[in-house]
This record gives sequence, structure tokens and C-alpha cells, in this order.
Amino acid sequence: MRRTVRTGSLIVATLALLPLLGACAIEKPAEIPVPSQDQSSTVPVPEQSATPSATPEPPAPPTFDKTARSIDDPNSIWVVVDKLRPLQPQDYTPPDLVDVPVAHTWEPLMRQEASDAIVRMFAAARDEAGLYLASNSAYRSYQTQVDIYDGNDSLTARPGYSEHQTGLVMDIGAESGRCSLDACFGETPEGQWLAANAWRFGFLLRYPADKTPVTGYEFEPWHYRYIGTDLAAEMHDTGVTTLEEYFGLPAAPNYP
Ligand code: DAL
Ligand code: ZN
Repeated sequence: MRRTVRTGSLIVATLALLPLLGACAIEKPAEIPVPSQDQSSTVPVPEQSATPSATPEPPAPPTFDKTARSIDDPNSIWVVVDKLRPLQPQDYTPPDLVDVPVAHTWEPLMRQEASDAIVRMFAAARDEAGLYLASNSAYRSYQTQVDIYDGNDSLTARPGYSEHQTGLVMDIGAESGRCSLDACFGETPEGQWLAANAWRFGFLLRYPADKTPVTGYEFEPWHYRYIGTDLAAEMHDTGVTTLEEYFGLPAAPNYP
């Protein structure tokens, strides 16, 4: 007898099993928790900032305080002395004069801080550029200015009106003596190095070639005035070359 396969019954059985097979193959999706409306929920809620965050403004550059030191007090390293601004008192003597330990023609005295800066500057000229500097004149008392004043107001200050009396000035030359106290010093390597670098050590070329109507003096490429590194850097950076212009003082071409 031939065995008969009952195909119809098999199909019915398979269809009956389908729901069970599907239950095994398809994962039930995880339930998504619904956030509680209750504010006492333990879920931390990040605090909202009161104002929307914005890109912070870059800080304004610090402005230089022009009033940080006196320009009237002869003991101040910013004192401005010119034909309209004599030293007060006129026979002022600086309190802390020291011998400046550098090469010189005349024994130089300066205030301690200015002397230290000169020593650093002369060493830098030697080490950075192989240049040898020397002092031709530094502190001059009221009486010394009486002795050297020759009546030429565009070259020499009257007694009581000279920056040299502050103890903050040196007339600088080449140790060789080339062009000493002459306008041609400005053309020498020593004069050019000083013009470019003195500000780094706190010095100002006080009588520039183009500022005679402001300062009252002809070009003196040898006359360097100590004003401290902060002010010297500020004047260098802003390109202002005279103390009169920097502090908004009247030009001083003549005595009153
Ligand atoms: N030669 C400068 C101006 C002075 O005599 O102080
Ligand atoms: Zn001088």
C-alpha cells in the first residue's frame, strides 16, 4: 500500500505555529520612560541661565596711566624740565647720586636707578653689537651749569633749567671719541644703536632733530634722559618723541 502525504494538514499546522515563532524572533521594544511632572523628582534638572550665553568680548587693552608719577617733583623720574619748567627749587640736588661705573671723559654721577640702567645699556651695546660707549657728561649741579653756560640758548640750558641737574641724564659718546658731542654722532654705529635701543633700558633721546620748536634745543643725538622702562616703552610704542607732547605740555622754544 502506498503511503500518502497529507500536505494540506501540514500547511494548517505551520500556520497555527506562526504567532509563536514571531514572538520569539521579534524583540519587544523597551518601554520609554515618561518624565515625571513632579518637580520633586530625583532626576536632576540643569539650571537655565538667565541670559543666553554670548561670545565674550576681548578685554580692553590696559591704558597707560600718565598720572602715575609727578612731572613737577624733581625727585620723580618723570619730571619735565624745559625752558618753561625750571627745577623747583632751582638749586635742587638729587638725593641718591652715585658714581657711574662706565668709561668716561669726566667722572659721571647719576641717581642710582639711572646709573644701574646705564650700566645695563652699555653692557648690551657691547654684547649685542660690539660697540663701546662712554660718558661725556652726566649730573651737573646748578653751579656747574653756571660755569658752562655760554649764552647760546639753543645749545646749553641756563642754570636751574638743565635736565643734567636732575641726575637722570647722560651725554653718551663712542669710547673712541669719534663725533663726541657733535651732530655727526647720530650717524655713527654707536649713535644709531642708542637711537634704536635706548628705550629698552628706560632712556629717551630728549632732543630729536625734528623737535627744536618743541624742546627749544637743536638736535643732540648724545643726550639721553632716564624716564624708566614703562614710560620709555609707552613712548616708543606710541611714537611720541618728546615729553612735552606726551604729557600735553606747551612747547618750550624760548624762555618766558
Ligand atoms: N645741552 C642741554 C640742553 C643742557 O645744557 O642741559
Ligand atoms: Zn646733555
